Amino acid sequence: MKYQIPPGVFDILPEDSKELWRCSHIWNYVESVIRQIALEFGYREIRTPVFEKADLFLRSVGETTDIVSKEMYLFQDKGERLLALRPEGTAPVMRAFIEHGLLNQGQNQKFFYIGPMFRYNRPQAGRYRQHHQFGIEAIGNRSPGQDVEVIAVLYSLLQRLGMNGLDVQINCIGDKSVRDKFEESLKSYLQPHLTELSQDSQKRFETNPLRILDSKEPQDIKIVKNAPPILDFITEENQQHFEKVKDLLTAIGIPFSVNPLLVRGLDYYNEMVFEVMTSGLGAQSSLGGGGRYDGLLKMMGGPDIPASGFGSGIERIIQAMIHQKCSIPEEHRPMVFIIPIGEAASSYSFKLLHQLRDNGISAQMDYTGRKVGKAMQLANQVKARHVLVIGDNELESGMADLKDMDAGTSDKVNLESLVMKRILEEDTTKE
Ligand code: HAM
Repeated sequence: MKYQIPPGVFDILPEDSKELWRCSHIWNYVESVIRQIALEFGYREIRTPVFEKADLFLRSVGETTDIVSKEMYLFQDKGERLLALRPEGTAPVMRAFIEHGLLNQGQNQKFFYIGPMFRYNRPQAGRYRQHHQFGIEAIGNRSPGQDVEVIAVLYSLLQRLGMNGLDVQINCIGDKSVRDKFEESLKSYLQPHLTELSQDSQKRFETNPLRILDSKEPQDIKIVKNAPPILDFITEENQQHFEKVKDLLTAIGIPFSVNPLLVRGLDYYNEMVFEVMTSGLGAQSSLGGGGRYDGLLKMMGGPDIPASGFGSGIERIIQAMIHQKCSIPEEHRPMVFIIPIGEAASSYSFKLLHQLRDNGISAQMDYTGRKVGKAMQLANQVKARHVLVIGDNELESGMADLKDMDAGTSDKVNLESLVMKRILEEDTTKE
């Protein structure tokens, strides 16, 4: 029987010449930059399980959202609990915050996570059934400065990865009472056009009319273009907050535009929402998005404190980097590859190999006694920086040629001395 991976998911391999974005060294590099940025902005890592009780997402993300109503992976465990593979990271972090009483550790707490999320949607380029998110959640701070910091984390990450042409879109969707009033007015505007809307939007008209605003269907776009803007409904206080967000974004040089149709696909947001897009990714152009969700903790039975955050798709970030030809560090290469000739050299080389590794120098050797030519091919295949051939002569003299595979030059080194180690270490620092 031939096994195949299920649709919509993918393997991350050490090397994938067709799909560069699935190479593990690029993932490691991007994740290391993510960790660095998170640290610089003061976010600490949180890891929650990949499955939770399904109810958590129904109540927080919203029963009528696509993510929950259509796309959630649900299953019952042997204890008859209804569980869900997590479709997003915010609700689990809030659950953990409440469950562990983390409020006792301070009023303002900032978390980040990196991990897989699961959504049963129609797979296409940039949209997967398992995708990986880098997300942050900042709890306890309602100031516009915090909103801007959240946007700045994502923007700084994408810039540090070398991306340009970023399109930051922001909007203010007010609080629940604003949205209720807006929804009424939106529905009376849409009512005469109802039959012209896409099937999905006709359904949303009853369940979640706001979502019609960010439909990607051409017939919907034509109609919502002239809908009343939500910004006409926000309160004086919302307005002031939003102005401050815009001023601060300008002050730190993050270019943005206000998109009055941006409402986001999850129910928990209020006030500031944002999304960062890029060209070249086709329909799935959102690299990340988020906003403020002040009522969520309280709604979940926790303290009445505000919060904001974002989630970003690592697949899309890597695909955009490749599309924009951003520089990506080379995969780590072994510093030395040892080729022994004969039994005695083999035992000696094995010890040398481990001495080098004990000293933090990445080393490999040919264990199988291949001919030198064949072993050289192996050294090339693993992209070794240097090769050391050790035979009877070398054992006797204690000297060997350390061949630099890039420069094509050789250095005579004393196998017992630290000369070789020093050369290799110097090369490590040059990397
Ligand atoms: P979201 O907009 O649903 O927000 O997802 C965040 C990001 O994850 C998207 O902008 C996109 O880059 C990526 N993404 C989502 N679905 C897929 C998919 N099927 N395939 C590939 N990438 C995908 C949230 O999940 C919120 N929890 C974000 C948040 C955190 N808001 C506040 N805090």
